[in-house]
Amino acid sequence: MKALVLAGGAGTRLRPLTHTGAKQLVPVANRPVLFYVVDNLVDAGVVDIGVIVSPESSAEITRALGDGSAFGANFSYILQEKPAGLAHAVATARTYLGDDDFVMYLGDNLVGMKIREMVESFARDASLAGSVMLKEVPNPSAFGVAETDEKGEVVGLVEKPKEPKSNLALVGIYLFRKSIFDAIARIQPSARGELEITDAINRLILDGGRVRFTHLDKWWLDTGKKDDLLLANDTVLDDWLVSGVEGEVDAASVCTGRVRIGKGTRIERSVIRGPVIIGENAHICDARIEPFTAIGDGVTVVRSTVAHSVVMEKTSIVDIERVADSLIGKRVVLRQGSPRHHTLSLMIGDDCVVELSKE
Ligand code: G1P
Repeated sequence: MKALVLAGGAGTRLRPLTHTGAKQLVPVANRPVLFYVVDNLVDAGVVDIGVIVSPESSAEITRALGDGSAFGANFSYILQEKPAGLAHAVATARTYLGDDDFVMYLGDNLVGMKIREMVESFARDASLAGSVMLKEVPNPSAFGVAETDEKGEVVGLVEKPKEPKSNLALVGIYLFRKSIFDAIARIQPSARGELEITDAINRLILDGGRVRFTHLDKWWLDTGKKDDLLLANDTVLDDWLVSGVEGEVDAASVCTGRVRIGKGTRIERSVIRGPVIIGENAHICDARIEPFTAIGDGVTVVRSTVAHSVVMEKTSIVDIERVADSLIGKRVVLRQGSPRHHTLSLMIGDDCVVELSKE
């Protein structure tokens, strides 16, 4: 069994963060979403992983993932020149995948469930042509939607239907055999001009193939927008954070709840209330870090309070009374300026959002 992880695309929804970074690398609890995807595959025993990259994402994804040895996996990078659809991505990986069965996993998908059982039952039942993961959603029209039967099989799929036949969305985790290539060769581009994997799966079903589904009964998180990413951060900190202090916490500081502090980080005269993760080589001094906050590597927080926020690497926050519910990118400087009444002095890039409280 191999895997195909999709890590292309431009990530327009999370701008400005994705102006300079791939959406699959946005950190949740200080780890890129894509790392959780790899963990889930490796946990299921799938270690040969083809990673589909786009011209925009290629350099950054390759740098973040490396050759796979850090994960106990072997990565091969496959370039998809244009965003021509998920089925097009599969066809692009034909040579890499060969005749093997494979898991296809969208690299910006974060799910609270292990895929091991789904992978093992597909491998055991050779009569299955495919297998997909499904979850109920309140807005099925935004997804690929499945119609299912009482045997636990998929009868048909429609991509972004105006009138959905169910509320069961395709999560973005699929299992295929080499028969999918023939199905892809026989579909046409959709109205949005892409070769849709939903159409290829329908083709398998119309040809008499059996496609099973696994129901996702845990969370499925979107990291596409600020509030979604904060919620993803809350959920992962809540469910998966393991306490551990590798840095230094001085005697005048207090840590309560689950707190993880990375190597080389110094905490001085501060209060940290978990769940909180702080990366490596950060400096927290005369500060308060409140629950559900992720502080990245090399961040400085001095004489400030940070609550329910994601602060990415090398940012510094100095003399700010309270930052809350915020998503702050890399190398940002947030500090108190000289006391000029009713004046903000800013250097802010494109697509940023600044919300100021009224006194
Ligand atoms: C893609 C798939 C869709 C699936 C979704 C899951 O949609 O085409 O079937 O439900 O991922 O995230 P896209 O993100 O390309 O709109």
